[in-house]
Amino acid sequence: MFSDILLDWFDVNKRDLPWRGETDPYKIWISEIILQQTRVVQGIDYYYRFVATFPTVTALAEADEAQVLKVWQGLGYYSRARNLHAAARSIVCDFNGKFPSTYADIRNLKGVGNYTAAAIASIAFNLPYPAVDGNVLRFVARYQGVFDNIANDATRRRIEEICARWIPAERAGSFNQAMMEMGATLCTPKSPDCAHCPFSRTCYAFQYNQVPQLPVKEHVVKVINRYFHYFIFLKNNQTLLQRREQNDIWKNLFEFPLLETSSEIFDVNRYLQTIGVQVCTPPQLAWQTKHVLTHRNIFAYFYVIPVADFPTLNPHQVVVDCNKMNEYAVAKVTERAMKEVGL
Ligand code: ADE
Repeated sequence: MFSDILLDWFDVNKRDLPWRGETDPYKIWISEIILQQTRVVQGIDYYYRFVATFPTVTALAEADEAQVLKVWQGLGYYSRARNLHAAARSIVCDFNGKFPSTYADIRNLKGVGNYTAAAIASIAFNLPYPAVDGNVLRFVARYQGVFDNIANDATRRRIEEICARWIPAERAGSFNQAMMEMGATLCTPKSPDCAHCPFSRTCYAFQYNQVPQLPVKEHVVKVINRYFHYFIFLKNNQTLLQRREQNDIWKNLFEFPLLETSSEIFDVNRYLQTIGVQVCTPPQLAWQTKHVLTHRNIFAYFYVIPVADFPTLNPHQVVVDCNKMNEYAVAKVTERAMKEVGL
């Protein structure tokens, strides 16, 4: 049977990961959310740090959001961290701090979709829900010869149904992890290791020489360019930071004051004049970068501007000692800019 072959392979070949053998649904949840954001190798460090800082749902619920974002710093996609925090609070309120144990209740948590709910339900509670991530989509598309676009929801549902037929009641959690492990270690996107695959004799793609053609993944994404002009005002070894408040990328993270424009054309001197900033020396474009996100290219420009007086602060801005900036949660681009300009 499919699941016997899979589990025999998994029992011998599985990677030794810190959350393997874990039965605490809270920790499984944290590991799954981190792994949606990064590769296993980098995820391990974040996982240890996260569960050491917030060892229980209650500890996470009681933390400040800023603290949670600080531990998440560098992983990107900060709404995942905010959702973890909000969901922990709702587990404390609605479930008395005890992690919910049904698929429906888990699926209702903020930031938890079909995949994560099935992963937690199966790994922590052995409930037979198929956890279909990108690895599983690829493996099943090849094994079954599914030529539909895996970026479509309908294809994902079709593959979930296929997995639901295979999943064994007694080892649902291991089955799901084994499926992901297949995709992550053998049935990889480029150069899959078909020679060592226990399924090559029954794999559609291998038998019909279609491995490179599968899975079919067609994305229609419109990429938008955004232009961020950041001002690193400097006075007496202090600078200004502000918190991003809008519902936008990097929400609640700190950054230098900025102006967003609709094109790269920007005259910094003229702009500083219009907002009445007296500069000590001419502003220098100290660093620029292009930061690529899923649907956005962020073109970020960082101007170093020594000033006699900081501009009038708005309520989201703070004056910060340059040597204390590491106390603020910032996006990767800002962190890199600080290094590049020597702060
Ligand atoms: N990717 C995400 N979660 C995983 C898990 N539990 N095992 C293997 N790979 C994974």
